[in-house]
Amino acid sequence: MNGTTNATKGRRDVEERRGGRGGFFADVVHGRHLFRIGGVLILIAFAVLVVLLQWFIEDRDSGFFLNQTSPRTYFALTPMRYVDDEGTKALRTRVGDTVAGVIVRDGTAVDRLILRIEAMVQGDLKGLALSQGLTELVQNLPEPERKKILQEAAALGNEFLESSESGADIGTPSSEAIWRAIERRSFPVEDNNIIYQILSEILQPLTRVDDDLTDAVRDDLRDSLQPVERTVNPGDILVEKGQYITPQLARVLKMQGYSQSDFPWRQILLVIIAMPFWPVWVLIQTRGVRLDTGEHRPWLYLSFIVGFSWLAEFLSMLVHAEGMGSLLLAGTAYLTLPPSLALQIVLGGSLIGSLIITGFSTLHVVLVATVGIISAIAGFYWLKDVNSRTTLWRKLFLLGLMQMAVVIAIRWAFGIALNPRSVFSLFLTSAALSSVVIAILPLLETVFDVISPLRLMELSSPSHPLLKKLQMEAPGTYHHSLMLGTLAESVADRIGMNSALVKAGAYYHDVGKLRRPQFFVENQLGDVNVHDGLKPSLSALVIIAHVREGLELAEEYRLPGVIRQFIAEHHGTTNLSYFYRKAKNMGLGVTADQFSYIGPKPQSRETGLLMLVDSIEAAVRAEMRSSSSVTDIMKTIERVVEGKISSGQLDSVDFTLKDLSIIRETLLHTFQSMYHTRNVRDIRDVKPAQEDGGDEKASIQEEKVRDSVHSSR
Ligand SMILES: [Fe+2]
Ligand SMILES: [Fe+2]
Repeated sequence: MNGTTNATKGRRDVEERRGGRGGFFADVVHGRHLFRIGGVLILIAFAVLVVLLQWFIEDRDSGFFLNQTSPRTYFALTPMRYVDDEGTKALRTRVGDTVAGVIVRDGTAVDRLILRIEAMVQGDLKGLALSQGLTELVQNLPEPERKKILQEAAALGNEFLESSESGADIGTPSSEAIWRAIERRSFPVEDNNIIYQILSEILQPLTRVDDDLTDAVRDDLRDSLQPVERTVNPGDILVEKGQYITPQLARVLKMQGYSQSDFPWRQILLVIIAMPFWPVWVLIQTRGVRLDTGEHRPWLYLSFIVGFSWLAEFLSMLVHAEGMGSLLLAGTAYLTLPPSLALQIVLGGSLIGSLIITGFSTLHVVLVATVGIISAIAGFYWLKDVNSRTTLWRKLFLLGLMQMAVVIAIRWAFGIALNPRSVFSLFLTSAALSSVVIAILPLLETVFDVISPLRLMELSSPSHPLLKKLQMEAPGTYHHSLMLGTLAESVADRIGMNSALVKAGAYYHDVGKLRRPQFFVENQLGDVNVHDGLKPSLSALVIIAHVREGLELAEEYRLPGVIRQFIAEHHGTTNLSYFYRKAKNMGLGVTADQFSYIGPKPQSRETGLLMLVDSIEAAVRAEMRSSSSVTDIMKTIERVVEGKISSGQLDSVDFTLKDLSIIRETLLHTFQSMYHTRNVRDIRDVKPAQEDGGDEKASIQEEKVRDSVHSSR
């Protein structure tokens, strides 16, 4: 019955935490989407900032304007082949213009000449249609002479017709040619004159230019020309100072990385359109990724580090150290996020950044994207197991050197000369960005409530004020916490969890007991148990309160959110069954809820693990009173795990069967080595761990022990 009530309540808690099931608008109202939308806005802000800075600092002065004269001489930076559209067009026009006109035989003119020759042969002056003066001259000639002249003229006309048909002469015969032909016949001079006049009137051009055919031939010729391809090598002049910048020259300049001075409207529009797809991409890529920080992705933080790395990349470009910005992203992401999520963030962030920051210059896109991919992969294996600030700096710097090697290799592949200055600049940027990562980590942790290995180390240090206080005022709880830290850390290592986080969580999980240490058995000296003189409901109230009071102390000492989750969730909604039964046996009218922790149940594998280890440790310690065999320890572990699963405390934690068996084995092994090296008598003197009474210490076996202790009084 209690189990059912608790399970329902637990489900309600979890649903409330998840923002209910009311669809998109309910999600917005509950703030689930607000963070995602906020993340997109942060990214847009950073992207627009970078685009504007680039325009303001670089392109506005040094860039070129389309359709204006160039303010400077531009040199090629990288070898490139491109199709010269403008050159191709000019060449095609020039080649087309070499065709002056296609000349074809003019059928009408030929027919007219044939008719006139026939008229001459027949002596038909009318049909010959000469000019009026010539007609009169010919008409006035004596009959035989006129006939002879017309016959001769007809014969010469035929000669010209035939020569034009054979293609030997397609134009109009010149005066000289006509005279030469006439003189070959040796007529009287006066006849020659008349024949010449007749021929020069009837011999008209027999050809004409065909416009359609000319156009078709020109088109064929133009189409047969291949596009003009040009090759530029580094150092070649692309545009001279004062030269007019045509659209093609603008295209070439952009391909070489030079930018246009126009206000970058198009880039800004692209950013606004493309950026909303970022969360979708992240969600698709990181399905199934387990987060230390519960179920939600820290959208604002993810967007901030990605955007910040774009800004760093832009600044790197200003000092000619292109590609180094991803060092900042890899550093912050791998130090504060689970590796699989960090991998996707570094990959996606660098690739999108390569498009936004570089203004689509081919070389820079390739360079920034490749270095981003390398940092993502190298960071995944490299930025783990950081145990000091120096190690972290060294690892980051080495990652920077690796990026530098990639940048140099790509520049070499693109044929860009490297000078000592640019190598030095890359080296300095690597060192500077490594230092920036370390410097901003504490700031990111404070603002976004994320946690890095360095912060975990600080938290786990015995010199932390809250741990010092715990050591002084509740030494029993302090030692319990340290032992739990060791146990949980060894298990976390084996199942691939963030063991430093689990250890820090264990150190602080019971800090709430600081308010009233003497109410918890590990802090009691001698046989005096304050609960003996208290009503069970009051005892339960005080014990349950250690969770709330722990959270208050966490607030006071500014512990990170992930550590607070250990405090809040380590008992889940477990019922203090020992006190509940005691109250019932006393005939008091009580409900199970009064004796249950308020929860929530563990929401991450880390807090789930701590709950298991805390309960198992307490149960094993309690049972050591009556027996200490390996089989007994194994049975106790088994029973506690089963109990937590069946009471639904681990419903929101995705432990696999393999995880659970590793947890059992590792704990059994550790308990064996811990208890079997100690004097059994000492162990039996240890009191049952009553403080976390609702744990599986409230197991049947333990309750028997307790009942016997309490009923005897
Ligand atoms: Fe506790
Ligand atoms: Fe505890």
